[in-house]
Amino acid sequence: MNLTKEIDQIEVIRRVGKCADELGLEAYVVGGFVRDLLLKRPSKDLDFVCVGSGISLAQRVADSFDHHVPLSVFKNFGTAMIKLEDWELEFVGARKESYRHDSRKPIVEDGTLQEDQDRRDFTINAMAISINSASYGDLVDPFDGVKDLKRKIIKTPLDPDTTFSDDPLRMLRAVRFATQLGFDIEPGTFDGLIRNSERLQIISGERIIDELNKIILAERPSYGFKLLFVSKLLHQFFPEMVELQGVDSVGDKSHKDNFYHTLQVLDNICESTDDLWLRWAAIMHDIAKPATKRFNAKVGWTFHGHEDKGARMTPKIFRKLKLPMDERMKYVQKLVRLHLRPIALVNDKVTDSAVRRLVYEAGDDVDDLMKLCRADVTSKNSNKVKRFLANFDKVEQKIQEVEEKDHVRNFQPPVSGEEIMEIFGLSPSKVVGDLKEEIKEAILEGQIGNNKEQAIELMYELAKAKGISKKEN
Ligand code: CTP
Repeated sequence: MNLTKEIDQIEVIRRVGKCADELGLEAYVVGGFVRDLLLKRPSKDLDFVCVGSGISLAQRVADSFDHHVPLSVFKNFGTAMIKLEDWELEFVGARKESYRHDSRKPIVEDGTLQEDQDRRDFTINAMAISINSASYGDLVDPFDGVKDLKRKIIKTPLDPDTTFSDDPLRMLRAVRFATQLGFDIEPGTFDGLIRNSERLQIISGERIIDELNKIILAERPSYGFKLLFVSKLLHQFFPEMVELQGVDSVGDKSHKDNFYHTLQVLDNICESTDDLWLRWAAIMHDIAKPATKRFNAKVGWTFHGHEDKGARMTPKIFRKLKLPMDERMKYVQKLVRLHLRPIALVNDKVTDSAVRRLVYEAGDDVDDLMKLCRADVTSKNSNKVKRFLANFDKVEQKIQEVEEKDHVRNFQPPVSGEEIMEIFGLSPSKVVGDLKEEIKEAILEGQIGNNKEQAIELMYELAKAKGISKKEN
């Protein structure tokens, strides 16, 4: 197969080929770029391999421009990088040992192109296109990656035990590519995942979470999670999620399988958001169900308090998974804690004060909370689904009405602690906090409006009842 027409779309490739010719080096563009080119997917990385020094080739390429182009050389690792407009060009010499793009391990032994291709992760990632003028555009595809692209298959070039022991993260990459591309994992390769899953333990949390987040950001992440579960890769780094799987029954009373429910919620929310953290909230929303599960002869299975316990588990899980411990964690935690509240509103009569309280607590995240709640409706009974969603419409309408009237979304107390202290000549003390709290409560309950005038009026009443009088001037 010759791909001249395709690679000629990217001008710099010819230039690199010409430089390689001048240096007498055999050179290729390889890996993910070739895969994405054949799949017609956009790509921003260009990886070049040459038989010889990748650094010399990169230097020659950088010098070939009549303006400055930024070149970074990593001598110890035998790699170099050039940033050019939107592209990142990476140069490396063909190697005999395992290839890892993010590896900072020195290259020990130079090799041939075939040896380099042998040590790559998947057949679809092991294709190379020649860029020397004599063979420009020729595809070098020793493992029939083109066929696997057509068959939509992820397969290791060598025995999976060899490929995975070179770098166990590749097992997660197999699932990630399968999920992103909608491919199957070839049965022999999948057996390799099962056999080697425990070896994932030696991989750093940072590398694992990078891959997991890519799975979560795919169009249908549930597919990836099912593969992770069946291969037991998920068990190695996220046992809390594995715990969600299973159904218990007593007599004719059983509960739903919370693992598959969570996956459905996750897929549902993907239809309304690309945001990684809202997707994480879907993954975490029922995480404490196993820990709070009880059986009650009258009502069956209950999971009381799973939302609060889930919120308490969130920082621990984030820390362990090397997810950020900042406002993104707090956001997920908040949504986990509040995820039942709109449902409670639906079941009861929707009162203004309940809505006001919810808006107060959720703040600007109230819209995301509603998305999560809608995604959480996974009943197979379509009448029930319709009824729930219609009730959520009502809740949302109410949220809007209450918000227009009372502005409690990002609540600022209409009377500050300083003002209370000033008016009554108080120093910082519990009574000041109590007054502030009672005013806030009255606003949320709808006893007074969210404005200064009514707040001050109430403040005097409350103070009087507490025997506090205005400061003498
Ligand atoms: N590679 C590998 N083993 C790894 C990582 C990478 O063999 N653990 C090889 C593959 O040939 C891969 C190439 O290095 O195609 C580039 O790696 P990387 O940039 O991580 O992935 P891409 O395949 O380019 O895909 P993406 O950009 O989607 O991550």
